[in-house]
Amino acid sequence: MGYKLGEVILSRDTIARRVKELASDIANDAGKDKSLVIVGILTGAAFFLTDLVRELPEELDVRVDFMSVASYGDDTKSSGVVRIFHDLKSSIEGKNVIVVEDIVDSGLTLSHLLELLKSRDPTSLKVCVLLDKYERRKTEVKVDYCGFRIPDKFVVGYGLDCAGMWRHLKDIKYVIEE
Ligand code: PRP
Repeated sequence: MGYKLGEVILSRDTIARRVKELASDIANDAGKDKSLVIVGILTGAAFFLTDLVRELPEELDVRVDFMSVASYGDDTKSSGVVRIFHDLKSSIEGKNVIVVEDIVDSGLTLSHLLELLKSRDPTSLKVCVLLDKYERRKTEVKVDYCGFRIPDKFVVGYGLDCAGMWRHLKDIKYVIEE
């Protein structure tokens, strides 16, 4: 089976506007804490995260860390298994943590990750996702900040891939299977 790019579902301008709104919500909620650790889940979320954190106000104490996990491999269906390839560089104990994901689908990756991160005793643990494919949820996950709810269709771009391809697209597009 082959793949080709379909129509734009979310344009770069629409994404940029929503990223600003999310950053504003995050900054408002941070309130007097003024200290956040933003944890990006590689690889897809790196694109969203770098735009998001640059919209946060300068006076906020913002740290960025990454984890590398995998639940899909090169397939388009979740295996439900989360493997950790690269862990955080710094401790999150006593920190206000926001996990940033590009997409939540079955919810399995995030629910496993949140359990793991909770066991490290952060002061708070929140979730920010760009895309929510809510129809595919297999387990409940609390999403504190959500960019867009999208239908159960294969999409790529702005960090999202198809077997490693098309992460670099500025717009998010449908993929047509042929
Ligand atoms: C994607 C996404 C989430 C996960 C969501 O990662 O970034 O981590 O799938 O799916 P789920 O809710 O069904 O668990 P992927 O494994 O494709 O890795 P990538 O970011 O490197 O593309």
